[in-house]
Amino acid sequence: PEVTHFGPTLERWYERHRRDLPWRHTTDPYRIWLSEVILQQTRVAQGLPYYLRFIEAYPTLVDLARADERELLRLWQGLGYYSRARNLHQTAKLIADTKQGQFPDTYHELLTLKGIGTYTAAAVASFAFGERVPVVDGNVYRVLARVFGIEEDITTTQAKKTFAALATRLMAHAVDPATYNQAIMEFGAIQCTPVAPDCLLCPVQQQCRAYLTGRQHKLPVKKKK
Ligand code: ADE
Repeated sequence: PEVTHFGPTLERWYERHRRDLPWRHTTDPYRIWLSEVILQQTRVAQGLPYYLRFIEAYPTLVDLARADERELLRLWQGLGYYSRARNLHQTAKLIADTKQGQFPDTYHELLTLKGIGTYTAAAVASFAFGERVPVVDGNVYRVLARVFGIEEDITTTQAKKTFAALATRLMAHAVDPATYNQAIMEFGAIQCTPVAPDCLLCPVQQQCRAYLTGRQHKLPVKKKK
């Protein structure tokens, strides 16, 4: 497949297929960060009501910084991985106390925050600030492994480097970094799904190595430990 056409094709697909989700109507880094942390280990249908309750209780970063931690953990109940909630609170306090409430606005600065790894930093940097940095998560591994026919085991360091490098090349050709990142996530979530991908209605069907070789159910390769 053409590295130059992939991004723009997915961006056009996204404009026709995107779900209407509240965090896609804001460029507030606080709201985007909150949504991405909730969605890290949680499906959209489950996370959405939590996101809405959180934003109602803590509409701004300063509100979250001032939150009572027991109250916050009560709101988090049912989502699991409570360290996510504690890191949210701690990081909100840090930004409120040492950065005058101004959210860090670059990928590299975001990476220094507790609980913010490469995925979340790229999501906030692109969705809130338009930075040209690709999100890479399980959805992205699956889509790229299939479309580009990458047979490397995604649990290895070498494969992670391969995917990150390809993701960066693809992002270089995106029309809009935020739209492209939303698009590839959404494409993995609703079109190029783990089980029973919808290849018959796929916009990159005729460019997809996996489809053309009948290997969509074999990719990505993930060796059992
Ligand atoms: N899962 C993780 N991030 C997401 C986003 N921005 N939109 C939909 N699902 C997601």
